[in-house]
Amino acid sequence: MAMLQDILPRIVEDMQGIAERGQVANYIPPLACVDPSKFGMAVVEADGTFHRFGDADEPFSIQSVSKVFGLTLALDAVGDSLWQRVRQEPSGSAFNSIIQLESEHGIPRNPFINAGAIVVSDILVSCFGRVGAENALLNLLRPLARDPASVVIDRVMAQQEAQTGFRNLALGNYMRNFDNILNPVEQTLDFYFHQCALTMSCGQLAEMGAYLMTGGINPRTGERVMSTRQAQTVLALMMMCGHYDGSGAFAIRVGLPGKSGVGGGILAITPGVASVAVWSPGLNAQGNSLLGTLALERLVQATGWNVF
Ligand code: DON
Repeated sequence: MAMLQDILPRIVEDMQGIAERGQVANYIPPLACVDPSKFGMAVVEADGTFHRFGDADEPFSIQSVSKVFGLTLALDAVGDSLWQRVRQEPSGSAFNSIIQLESEHGIPRNPFINAGAIVVSDILVSCFGRVGAENALLNLLRPLARDPASVVIDRVMAQQEAQTGFRNLALGNYMRNFDNILNPVEQTLDFYFHQCALTMSCGQLAEMGAYLMTGGINPRTGERVMSTRQAQTVLALMMMCGHYDGSGAFAIRVGLPGKSGVGGGILAITPGVASVAVWSPGLNAQGNSLLGTLALERLVQATGWNVF
């Protein structure tokens, strides 16, 4: 069987040659300026072997991929009581949809749509305070990185999103009406926008995801990040909800739990085997990286990593 160090450069080279790259997100000004020809891919294997190809060392805005890390912190902080405020079901709706909240009493379908991630942010602000929540997030992530200082929040990105994030403010206010946001909406959203503005490269993102490959343990330090059961819960939600109304197609095409962001990043986990990060800024109609998905599909075909 071909080895990863042969498979990955071939996939990256193929992706770099494809002209149809999807649409770069344009609703946050700094995202609209990203070069659509960028493509990076990184894999951390269970034995620690690290592969990086293409633009895998270039930092990008991880956006909604960060919802995995917010959920990890909140599950660790409040355990299963979290599920009283957000459900565990696919939404079948767009990432920023408000529709289901009206008939479902302000309880979002899952923690990976915007409404659900805003509730998770509210829980973190209640537990740690606004500044404490950001510190807790960085303290979760930095020990996972080979170079801890490189995990940063792009404050300009967060501010720009706060200026244009009317829809997220609407989601927050709407859920506050149902008593499912307990802090001032502006404060919860301020944390949510900063979480979305986490900046890292594919290499770093693959390192961040490694605790999900190992059932909750930071492979670098041996420390437990969350229980195995909680890590399994996060992975199940990634499989069912990680790509919004594109989650079913992603599960069939790729067959791995994955989480996308509008910056064009995807984190995908092969349990027990590998943590994979891919970045291509052009998105498909559901807001998921077009070539990132294709590259993961090709990787899984070549490695047999499909969990099904
Ligand atoms: O809240 C938002 O709309 C953005 N900060 C993140 C959305 C996102 O990444 C959706 N993913 N594909």
